[in-house]
Amino acid sequence: MDNPILDALKGHVRPVPPIWMMRQAGRYLPEYKRVRATTNSFLEFCYTPEKAAEVTLQPIERFDFDAAILFSDILVVPDALGQEVWFEEGIGPRLTPVDLNNPRLDGPEEAVKRLEPVFQTIERVRARLHPGKALMGFCGAPWTVATYMIAGKGKEDQLAARQAIFANPVACRHLFDRLVDTSIAYLNEQIRRGVDAVQIFDTWAGSLDDLAFDEWVTEPTRRIVAGVKAAHPQVPVIGFPKSVGLRLERYVERTGIDAVGLDSGVPLHFARDVLQKRVCVQGNVDPLRLIAGGNALFDAVDAVLEALGEGPLIFNLGHGITPDTPIDHVHAMIDRVRSRVGRGTGSNGQA
Ligand code: CP3
Repeated sequence: MDNPILDALKGHVRPVPPIWMMRQAGRYLPEYKRVRATTNSFLEFCYTPEKAAEVTLQPIERFDFDAAILFSDILVVPDALGQEVWFEEGIGPRLTPVDLNNPRLDGPEEAVKRLEPVFQTIERVRARLHPGKALMGFCGAPWTVATYMIAGKGKEDQLAARQAIFANPVACRHLFDRLVDTSIAYLNEQIRRGVDAVQIFDTWAGSLDDLAFDEWVTEPTRRIVAGVKAAHPQVPVIGFPKSVGLRLERYVERTGIDAVGLDSGVPLHFARDVLQKRVCVQGNVDPLRLIAGGNALFDAVDAVLEALGEGPLIFNLGHGITPDTPIDHVHAMIDRVRSRVGRGTGSNGQA
């Protein structure tokens, strides 16, 4: 059975690139809001397999995307490790900040056992998902997850974690070891229960200075990739280190990932000439263009197809879709990608 996403992840060039969107199950969809409204707590929603499976499948039913992404959140990991995590309406995630000198977190096996509802979601989705569609699992990268664990909330500048790695590197290393081991066990169990590929979200990777980047971003990610590959050598791993600019090259070389997610700031010629020579690339339309629609959207869609369409590509946004996005614009974007008439017949950037 042809599975376009897995094919692209193996490095094959598709005449029409497969497509999915980060945060594709979410509040821009009325059918999501209807299911979401039946549960008060977001975490409880993530841990209710019938509901989580339902919303995982909604974007496939509506848009016929090539991948479904497991509906959950990166912060189920600190929750499963025993940290207190909750989501405040209109504000976002809150956690009781971890005490780095006395973190009192549980072990990976116990954490993964607590995540059983997530694995049941995967089984439900896989049973209903067409074999030509990929089911994507995920986790947060240790750096991004740690920024929430240390600050106790999402902050624009990730200040608390950036200070902690310099002020208290030994304690931070212990925390990262726990996150690496737990992420490996978590992803491997996701794969065992039915996901076809996994993505490691490192949303805040760009906030580190260049000297700190390898120890806290590249190296923990490399260890997670190695731990997944040791158990499941055939399962592709996508890395998404957001806003890291030129460091994407080093990240790709050192982590061993099979594909790299591009944020909207990545120049397409750099993606084509440097990254796509090594791995499949995924991205990178600015979600704000999707809100605007029209030429603002089509210009970026065409630019991605022209620059990256001759190599292994998964079409996606440069970050998650936002709640205020018109559904018609999503349809228009997909139509634009799928109506592309074969490789080599486009303007090839010469127009
Ligand atoms: O992509 C998908 O559709 C799968 C599900 C998914 C969610 N979060 C659902 C969600 C995934 C892959 C994530 C990843 C995630 N979560 C990241 C990394 C990627 C990124 O977007 O940067 C981060 C940093 C988080 C942490 C998080 N979860 C934040 C900061 C928020 C609040 C912001 C917001 O949009 O409200 C969440 C909540 C969240 N996670 C929602 C969804 C659909 C919205 C909550 C709701 O519906 O009530």
